[in-house]
Amino acid sequence: MRIVDMKEFYITTAIDYANGAPHLGHAYEKVLADTIVRFKRMEGISSHFLTGLDEHGQKVQQNAQKMGVSPQECCDQVAELFQGLCKELNISNDDYIRTTQPRHIKIVQELLQKLYDSGDIYKADYNGYYSVRQEQFVQDKDRNPDGTWPELFGEVIEITESNYFFRLAKHQDWLRQYLEEHPGFIYPEHRQKNVIEFLKEPISDLCISRPKERLSWGIELPFDTNFVTYVWFDALTNYYSASLEKGCWPADIHVIGKDILVPPHAVYWPIMLHACGLELPKMILAHGWWLSRGAKVSKTKTAADDNAPKEKTAIELMREYGVDVFRYYVMRNMSVGEDSDYAEELFMISQRQLANDLGNMVNRTLNMITKYCGGVVPSVVVEEELESKLKETWEHAKTQYFGLAKTFQFNMALQELWVFVAGLNRYINDRAPWKLAKSEDVKDRARLETSLAFSAEGLRLAAVALAPVMPTIAEKIQTLFGLPVAANVFAGNLDWSAVLAGKSVAAGAKLFPRPETVDSVPQKK
Ligand code: MSP
Repeated sequence: MRIVDMKEFYITTAIDYANGAPHLGHAYEKVLADTIVRFKRMEGISSHFLTGLDEHGQKVQQNAQKMGVSPQECCDQVAELFQGLCKELNISNDDYIRTTQPRHIKIVQELLQKLYDSGDIYKADYNGYYSVRQEQFVQDKDRNPDGTWPELFGEVIEITESNYFFRLAKHQDWLRQYLEEHPGFIYPEHRQKNVIEFLKEPISDLCISRPKERLSWGIELPFDTNFVTYVWFDALTNYYSASLEKGCWPADIHVIGKDILVPPHAVYWPIMLHACGLELPKMILAHGWWLSRGAKVSKTKTAADDNAPKEKTAIELMREYGVDVFRYYVMRNMSVGEDSDYAEELFMISQRQLANDLGNMVNRTLNMITKYCGGVVPSVVVEEELESKLKETWEHAKTQYFGLAKTFQFNMALQELWVFVAGLNRYINDRAPWKLAKSEDVKDRARLETSLAFSAEGLRLAAVALAPVMPTIAEKIQTLFGLPVAANVFAGNLDWSAVLAGKSVAAGAKLFPRPETVDSVPQKK
């Protein structure tokens, strides 16, 4: 095990709005960040993983009113739901920030005060149109050609009010230059180009206050108690405020969805940090959307809309089939940065891939070791040449797999690993140990033992490699082959070895059971 002596690798997800229940989009983002951080830990890099809840703002205040509870009570209920989901998804976050926590409020106010003192925040009168739904001012250029407001803004009202503004425009040229000089700051690359384009047009200063009479559910401005802080200024600061106890700022990766890249994460946040004299995060990774029938999966739309035949939501399927199947499904079916369609049928295909290729191979190997070798993994007796060939195949798969994972191409990494698993399946079919078992020839006996030792080792390696994506299954497989429960998953265990020789195995376990109720789903490969 190698613990690198350096600042902890610090990774965050977006903090979810506390105004609705979690859905596939939220779940995916957490699994993605969790997979990245587990790969890091596997390399021996000590890490800090933050996720959390965005609790202030108009929508939460309105929701609470509708529910007849206080905004804080409403947030507490939602926090329970989201934290429960993290547990179910086996998310290894080290911290969970809620923006109503004192540790956060204190830092938001400190940053505001600092910017106010340095002249980066000023007060001005503002007359304009305000979208209640989006909680932002809108401009004439945002109107539809017929003069109406696009539906996404909901009710738009004209207001005049005094507010506080943050000097974004002043830092625009700095940001553009920073982005030009730091390729790779935003992943995928084409999005960084979009931001640079966006910054070629003048940007306006950002209104960072809301008068209390309109919105009370927020963090009070330290220099004017008649106002609360605009929710994005508050929310973005979470990454920094939560890092302070650990001293792990700057973040290495902010994992977010593409909808909140421009302007919040790619423009407001870097400028806020720069104006405060703080370091910028190393990278912003913007993933795409999960779509259902072409529309973004969101809390307002369920798969049961449009009078469609009732389909299970991804979260329901996760509960039925188990979390590892779900994690495998989202990582295998989404190319990070692009959109992907969620469909129950695709979920079933993933389930079958796991059951047929991996689960089946594990079961067959365990059963044969039990039947022919007294339940103890045999040692390699013959076929050194074959062993070095297998070693080579593994080394190739390993290099591909980890190389692709490093560049966030998890779907392709998993495909590579599947080529290896498929190779193991082919190998055992060709070898047919069940036939060798019938032979009286001692050479055949040696071949039988060797083939089972090879299969077991191949499966152990695949399991260790899969641990960041499917942590429970990886551990289960290793345990079935007789390794201690906390069989560790460090990169050092990824070399072809004889570590399993002499270990007692457990047979008969079903790794990917299919719930009875869904047996009727059509088979498709
Ligand atoms: N509260 C803000 C983020 C503040 S971060 C300082 C927010 N919350 S959200 O609940 O609407 O979204 C949380 C995350 O889930 C975002 O990164 C968003 O992109 C992601 N997703 C929400 N729906 C999604 C899909 N359908 N697909 C994939 N991810 C999407 O925005």
